Amino acid sequence: LADGPLKGRHVIVTSGPTHEPIDPVRYIANRSSGAQGAAVAAALRDLGARVSFVTGPALVPPPQGVDVVAVETAQQMRDAVEAALPADAAVMAAAVADWRVLNGSERKLKKDGSGRPPALEMAENPDILSWISQAPQRPRLVVGFAAETDDVTANATAKRARKGCDWIVANDVSPGTGIMGGSENAVTLITAEGAEDWPRMAKGAVAARLAARIAETIG
Ligand code: C5P
Repeated sequence: LADGPLKGRHVIVTSGPTHEPIDPVRYIANRSSGAQGAAVAAALRDLGARVSFVTGPALVPPPQGVDVVAVETAQQMRDAVEAALPADAAVMAAAVADWRVLNGSERKLKKDGSGRPPALEMAENPDILSWISQAPQRPRLVVGFAAETDDVTANATAKRARKGCDWIVANDVSPGTGIMGGSENAVTLITAEGAEDWPRMAKGAVAARLAARIAETIG
């Protein structure tokens, strides 16, 4: 572990999308690459933290020097986060699927000739950020992300209150920004003190700045 202001601190980072199976070969997913979460984990590692990196099936590889827990579904991600507690901080950067398929099949679904597609029944997934924010073993600092397409600051401020986390890192993922799946990010940090707009910069630079703020708070 590196020497730094977070030496002796344990931070849980969630990252990537989740996959929600329909049958053995099909799943519901989203376009998260896992790039921002991986960058945050690497930045925290560089400041000396022990990092539990709970990742869904991401496009970018996990950073070296972190404890990787690879999961597929939202429920597995929740269980892995719980197993990683206690922690001094948690950064929930994963794009967790809001719903899972309730009537998934053990066997590959096949067309039955009727022309009627299978009806998927869905159920809401656990909200890991809300859950950890109220958990008995709540980390001292809980940070969530918010991908918004409009009224970024207002929506993210409301989300911070609703979820019960300490900070929200909000970004505008409107088409045309190139942020989702891209290498840069432009974020607004929402804390109890208000909203701070950060300039557009590389995801690695956002991660370094966020990790430095985390170190100021729990280091
Ligand atoms: O409600 P929304 O999905 O916009 O909230 C995003 C934030 O909540 C992110 O930090 C994400 O990691 C977290 N989240 C979660 N579990 C869910 C849904 C979102 O931890 N089921």
